[in-house]
Amino acid sequence: MADLAVDIGGIKSPNPFWLASAPPTNTGDQVARAFDAGWGGAVWKTIGEPVENTFSRYSSVDLDGKRMMGFNNIELITDRPLATNLAEIEAVKSRYPDNALVVSLMVESSQEAWHRIVRQAEDAGADGLELNFGCPHGMSERGMGAAIGQVPEYCQNIVVWVKEVATKPVLVKLTPNVADIVPPARAAKAGGADGISLINTINSVTGVDLDTFAPRPTVAGESSHGGYCGPAVKPIALHMLSAIARDAEAGDVPLSGIGGVATWQDAAEFILLGATTVQVCTAVMHWGYRIVEGMIDGLSGYLDSKGMASVNELRGKSVDRLKKWENLDLNYVIKAKVDQEACIGCGLCYIACNDGAHQAIGAERNGDRTKVWIIEDACVGCNLCSLVCPVSGCITMEQRDTDHDSINWIEYGEGKGTIEPRPKHGVTITAD
Ligand SMILES: Cc1cc2nc3c(=O)[nH]c(=O)nc-3n(C[C@H](O)[C@H](O)[C@H](O)COP(=O)(O)O)c2cc1C
Repeated sequence: MADLAVDIGGIKSPNPFWLASAPPTNTGDQVARAFDAGWGGAVWKTIGEPVENTFSRYSSVDLDGKRMMGFNNIELITDRPLATNLAEIEAVKSRYPDNALVVSLMVESSQEAWHRIVRQAEDAGADGLELNFGCPHGMSERGMGAAIGQVPEYCQNIVVWVKEVATKPVLVKLTPNVADIVPPARAAKAGGADGISLINTINSVTGVDLDTFAPRPTVAGESSHGGYCGPAVKPIALHMLSAIARDAEAGDVPLSGIGGVATWQDAAEFILLGATTVQVCTAVMHWGYRIVEGMIDGLSGYLDSKGMASVNELRGKSVDRLKKWENLDLNYVIKAKVDQEACIGCGLCYIACNDGAHQAIGAERNGDRTKVWIIEDACVGCNLCSLVCPVSGCITMEQRDTDHDSINWIEYGEGKGTIEPRPKHGVTITAD
C-alpha cells in the first residue's frame, strides 16, 4: 500500500485528508470522532472574540434532484467561549498526538490581539495555525476575514505579526473573492507563511422564495450574502490553487486545497495540481465523517495502480500541463464519433450541436428514434455532443492526423505556420 503520510510546511499528517475549519470541527468531541474515523488532520472552527450567530444560516442549490450541489452559509466564526475551545483543543491533541491539529484564528487587526491568540492556540497544543483571511460575510464588514485577504498589504502585515511570536507553522487561508489570487498568495509568502490554504467560500445569494420574496437563507424575512462551497465550487478552487502553484514567486509555498472535495478522485485532482493536503467541509456536513474511509482506500489503490510508493510522488504532476492559451497546439485535431450500437436515438446531440454549437451533426427521424451522424468537415471537435450525450462512452472524440508541424497562436500570428482550413458553418441538414 502506498504511503499517504505528508508534511505541509512542517505540519505532519498520517494522510492528506483534513477537515476544513467549519461546523464539523466545532467541538472536541467531533474532532475526536473524525480522527477515529481516519481523518489525518483537522482545522478547528475559527476561534477569536466570541460572536452571536443567526439561527437560520444555511441554504443550498439542488441540481436535478442532487441535493446540495452548491452550499451557502452566513455563519460567523465560533460562537463558543474561547476558554472552552482552548480546553477541548488541548484534550484532543493529547489524545491524538499523531494527527495534525491546526487551529484557525481570526481577530481584529491589532498586533497585540494577534500575538495573544497565537500564544493561546499554541499553549493549547496546536500543531499549526491557520489565519482565516477568507470569511466573506459578517466578519469582513468589521475589517476581518476576506477584508484582509482582499488586500495583499494587510495580508502580509498580519502574517508578519503572527510570525513574530509563532513557534508552529503558519498557514494562510485565502479568500477567492478577488480578481487574481496570486497577489495575496505572494503577500502571504512575503510575510513568512509556511503554507497557503484555499479556497474559503465564494460570495453568493442562493435564491429567492417566489411566494414570500425573501432571499435564502431567510432570517426573519431578510437575508445577507453568504459563502458558497460544495461540489459547485471545485473548478474555481482548482483554478486558483493551480494559479498559485504555477506562479514563479509563490509556487514553492506548500498548498492545502479546499473546495468541493468529496471523493478520492477530487483529492487526487487537487494533489496533481499542487496540493499537499486537501480539506473537506460540505461533503462531511452532507455525508458524515465516514466518507474518509473510501477516500483513503481509493487514493491508496490509485497510487498503487500508478506504481507510486508515496502520495508525495503524485503532487504537482499536472501543474505544467496548464498553460497560457497562446501556448496550446493549434494543430491538434479531434472529431466526434458516434457509437451507433450504444446510441439510444434521443437526438440531444443533434439539437445541442445544431442550435448551440457548430451544425456538425446530421439527423434523421426514424419512428421515435433519431439517427445521428457526424459531418466530419463541419465538426470542430468542441466536445459538446459528448458532454450532453446521456449514454456514457457513446460519443467519443477521436484524434486526426494533420500534415502540419505543431504551432501555437503566437507563431500562427507571426505567419510561421498554417492551419487546416476551418469548417464552414451553417450546414443545412435534410433527412431523406
Ligand atoms: C457552515 C460553514 C461554516 C464555515 N466556517 C468557517 C470558519 O469558521 N473558518 C474558515 O476558515 N472557514 C469556514 N468555512 C469554509 C470552509 O472551511 C471551506 O473553506 C469551504 O466550505 C469550502 O470547502 P467545501 O467545498 O468542502 O465546503 C465554513 C464553511 C461552511 C459551509
